[in-house]
Amino acid sequence: MRTQVAIIGGGPSGLLLGQLLHRRGIDAVVLERKTRDYVLGRIRAGVLEQGLVKLLEEAGVADRLHAEGHEHDGTLVVYNGTSFRVDFREQTGSAVVVYGQTEVTRDLYDARQAAGLRTEFEVEDVVIHGADTAAPYVTYIRDGAERRIDCDFIAGCDGFHGVSRKSIPEHLRREYEKVYPFGWLGILSETPPVADELIYANSERGFALCSMRNDHLSRYYIQCPMTDRVEDWSDEAFWAELKRRLPPEVADRLVTGPSIEKSIAPLRSFVTEPMRWGRLFLCGDAAHIVPPTGAKGLNTAASDVNYLYRALAEYYDSGSEAGIDAYSERALARIWKAERFSWWFSGLMHRFPDQSPFDVKMQAADLGFLKDSEAQKRAFAENYVGLPY
Ligand code: APR
Ligand code: PHB
Repeated sequence: MRTQVAIIGGGPSGLLLGQLLHRRGIDAVVLERKTRDYVLGRIRAGVLEQGLVKLLEEAGVADRLHAEGHEHDGTLVVYNGTSFRVDFREQTGSAVVVYGQTEVTRDLYDARQAAGLRTEFEVEDVVIHGADTAAPYVTYIRDGAERRIDCDFIAGCDGFHGVSRKSIPEHLRREYEKVYPFGWLGILSETPPVADELIYANSERGFALCSMRNDHLSRYYIQCPMTDRVEDWSDEAFWAELKRRLPPEVADRLVTGPSIEKSIAPLRSFVTEPMRWGRLFLCGDAAHIVPPTGAKGLNTAASDVNYLYRALAEYYDSGSEAGIDAYSERALARIWKAERFSWWFSGLMHRFPDQSPFDVKMQAADLGFLKDSEAQKRAFAENYVGLPY
């Protein structure tokens, strides 16, 4: 088989890239290790920056997003019995859209299928060949048979545990990592959200977050030790602990119910450089990970896709390699800013095991400054709604 761009990974990065390339008449094949249903079964955050919304519009897959997504003009922050709101619209003239990542992925798969674009599911043993030559190709197994795709370019959109990043020779890679000493225990429940906007809470018992997927599907998180196991937490224990971390007036109106999904996620910051080797380009989680505090995972994937798609379109339109040569540097410049915001916000909102009383005072002072300073609110809002591409 031959294609112009071989995309490894059928998550949001690979699907959005494939859809945007298709809209520019560029052929791409997506290789996905799992089934479509398995991919759609992943529960992930859905706070969309305006840049991602515009990309989805450009990809022709934003109809349901506009029909079912909810614009959020701000967020609530609570600490030490104090509550305040950061108004994104007032600070930046922009907002975010809450629409589950699962729904974004579903819309992208539906569009791909409707256009008759090729997606190979349940592939195994994907191997990248000749990425540093002008004739790269990918081999893989499907239905027990070895297959080969010859291509011009390879997009490594296969996530943190994929093969693409590791296909770049180790001596050429620079990796940066920070592992946080806690995790997030999350619950999905068919209950009405406790508030119209998200609530980020820094309580003496630890971080908590009240979020939602829609008017009847709520998503809640509490910070927990990494030694905890999800089976240690009954639904009742989760709800009781969440309430302890929220202001009484919020806890009192919390509607609880059985969890339809419950899991513990570790928190990590990670970046690999460069994001390009020859004709292999890394996109999304294959190149970087953020702690979920700033809701930047999906949005950083979209950021990469924006730069890569335009670079590839420029190459096929004009033969210019300027965009693909600049891809890694451009993508990383924005990624590091999102890493910084996610790291800073995580440090602001969580209680760390080794925190001294002075550290706690600094956190409270930082939160107080965010509450009182228009400049700090503006900086927070600019990062949260998304810095320009
Ligand atoms: N071959 C083919 N597919 C693979 C391979 C492989 N060797 N390894 C992984 N995959 C697939 C996974 O099954 C997954 O569907 O690649 C896809 C990668 O998708 P994600 O991990 O979701 O990464 P990405 O598309 O970059 O999206 C980033 O997802 O993890 C969240 O928080 C993250 O919201 C962010 C978004
Ligand atoms: C979520 O709804 O899952 C969510 C929202 C905001 C975050 C993290 C997760 O910062």
